[in-house]
Parts: sequence; structure tokens; C-alpha cells
Amino acid sequence: MADESFISIDRISKHFGDVRAVDDVSFDIRRGEFFSLLGPSGCGKTTLMRMIAGFEEATEGDVIIDGQYMGDTPPYRRPVNMVFQNYAIFPHLTVHQNLAFGLRKDRLGKQELNRRVEEALDMIKLSGYGSRSANQLSGGQRQRVALARALIKKPKVLLLDEPLGALDKKLRGQMQLELRALQKSLGITFIFVTHDQEEAMTMSDRIAVMSAGKALEVGPPSDLYERPRPYFVADFLGSMNFFDGRVVNLEGDTVIVDTEQVGRVKVKAEGTSFEQGNPVIVAIRPENIAVSSTEVEGKVNTIKGKVDTAAFLGDRSHIFVNVHDGRNAVLTQMQNLGGAASRASSSAENIWLSWSEDAGILLAPASA
Ligand SMILES: Nc1ncnc2c1ncn2[C@@H]1O[C@H](COP(=O)(O)OP(=O)(O)O)[C@@H](O)[C@H]1O
Ligand SMILES: [Mg+2]
Repeated sequence: MADESFISIDRISKHFGDVRAVDDVSFDIRRGEFFSLLGPSGCGKTTLMRMIAGFEEATEGDVIIDGQYMGDTPPYRRPVNMVFQNYAIFPHLTVHQNLAFGLRKDRLGKQELNRRVEEALDMIKLSGYGSRSANQLSGGQRQRVALARALIKKPKVLLLDEPLGALDKKLRGQMQLELRALQKSLGITFIFVTHDQEEAMTMSDRIAVMSAGKALEVGPPSDLYERPRPYFVADFLGSMNFFDGRVVNLEGDTVIVDTEQVGRVKVKAEGTSFEQGNPVIVAIRPENIAVSSTEVEGKVNTIKGKVDTAAFLGDRSHIFVNVHDGRNAVLTQMQNLGGAASRASSSAENIWLSWSEDAGILLAPASA
């Protein structure tokens, strides 16, 4: 299907001297997709974006957009436009002038130019702000003007490099929703860079998780969260318990693992490639571990413990539970309904943790 690879990143690398900023990265982006590059600072997100935009020459590999090898095509000849973190708008110009600046090379008639500017202002919900000076705008409004200046060119692809990084949390949340809605209504392919895993998960159709110049895994947010494959991805998205162990047996789809932290556990892993004797990490999300004040019967995986500390997070609490007489800790999560969290955190009584065979994910040890 043509749409499967509207943009192909084809074995691309960028070396700065000894630094492999981007190291043999390949993946495809679909037409009309909201696609995010997610990873910690310095992992190569900006460098990869700059190669897609044509601001940076690849050391190896290429970018193919809509069937065209980009090679050394200059930025202005590519069907892409980029919005930067530090919204590059001119503070001494009006909003109208800022938007018209984006079209200066197109030699449009005055009427057509005005129509395009109005259209773009409408998209970003700033109709009537054309004559405002850019330095009279709030941070959020300025970022919307920067966005409109990129959109007014009607690019096929919009590249956004941490565009919300400078906004406070609340405004950021609002802009996330607006951006997402705008992207869906325009049908333009967005490539969005962020180091914030929550932001990437809320906004994206698919995410490429990057670390040290590599794209480790590409997929929809729910797949990456529920079934991460590399250890790094499991660790980077959300909270996770990791139990180091060794496979002792396989019973059909069920893998039996002896772990250091919680003893023997059973994990359902269809078509697993792990074999008896293999070192393995069992990963379990805190929200998949149930807490009970009485001993649980008939559960496959259960362990006794005592509450150590609880971190109150508003709607829920993270509870650290000591197991094995305090030698190990397990992180669980409780919804905060009617003071359940405060009860749990003040309790020195025994509690029981339990989880199903489906809750665990088997990962290869990071260094293996
Ligand atoms: N122009 C450059 N010269 C030398 N090193 C660079 C240059 N640009 C980026 N790097 C290095 O490449 C790596 C990736 O940087 P960058 O792409 O900016 O990461 P990110 O956007 O994920 O924070 C970093 O180690 C950075 O220091
Ligand atoms: Mg960057």
C-alpha cells in the first residue's frame, strides 16, 4: 500500500566527528499520520528532523517523501515545513506580517495573500488578531502564530520540534488537544518531536522511541505501553516493576520464571522464544498488581508484603510494598476512592499482592 510508506526513513545516519547522533535508523510514516519521535535529550531527535527537512546532510542513507528520494534537495524544495521550539516569529511585526512572511516567495496578489492569511488565522483561532503586534501576544498565542506561519504554506508534512516545550503545563495540555484536532481536520502528516512520554502517548497515532541515535521500537502508543519489546522502551514509558530471573520451565504458553525479587512467577507469553535456563526480566505495570488486606486464594501469582511508603498522585497513589522481609520492593498503584490510599499508607499490617499470568511481560536482559 502506497500510504504505508508516505515517508521512508531509509537506513539514515548522521555522524558529527565521533558522535553518532543518528545511527542507522529506518522506519516508515503513513500519509495523514500524527507520528512522534520520543526519547531523552540528546538521543538524536532534532538531528533526524533536520535531515528530513533538509537542513542537515545525512552521512549515510536517505529520506524518501511521496516516492521522491530527497538526496541533497534543499529545504525550500521539499514538501515539508518545520516549527521550532523557540517559535521563530518576529516580535516587531504584526501577526498579519508574520504570516505573510511565510508566503513572501510565492508572489501572490494582495487579495489572495489576505485571503490566505485570514484562512490561516481562522485555523489557529486567532481571527481578528491580524493587526496585533506579535510582542503583545501570550506564549500560547505566539506559538500558534508560528504554527500558522508553517501551515500557510500548505506543506504535505509538518515537522514540529518540541513546539510546546516553553509552555506551562495547563496551556500545554490545551495546545496538545488543539494541535491534534487541527492535524486531523487538515489531514497533513505531522512529525512531532518530544521528550515527554505522556505528551507523545496522548497525541500520536504512532511513536518511534529513540535512544542513543537508534530507533528502538515503532508502534501505536497502546502497543508500546502494553507490550514493549526492548527494556529501554518498557522503562521509558510509564512506571514498571522489573524482576530479574531465569526460565525454569515452559507449560504451553506459560513461562515459569524464578525471580530474585518476588520468587516464582508465571507469565503467559504466546510464541515465546525464551527457553529453559534463559536469563529473563519479568516486567509488570503497577496498575496490574492488585492489593488485598486478606490472603488471596486461587491466584497464580501472589506474594505477601508490608506497605513501605505511598506517593500521593491525586487521583491515584503509588504504593511501595516491601516483600521478602524488606529485602525487595514492589510498586503497585491504587485508585484514590474514599481515602483508600491514606489507609494503605498508614498500615503496618500484612497485605497480599497478586497479578494474573497476562500481567507480566518477558524481556531480554538489557546487556544480553
Ligand atoms: N552540529 C552538531 N555538532 C556536533 N554534535 C552535534 C551537533 N548537533 C547535535 N550534535 C550531537 O548529536 C547528538 C544528538 O543531538 P540532537 O539531535 O540535538 O538530540 P535531541 O534533539 O534528541 O536532544 C547529541 O550528542 C548532540 O550533542
Ligand atoms: Mg532536540
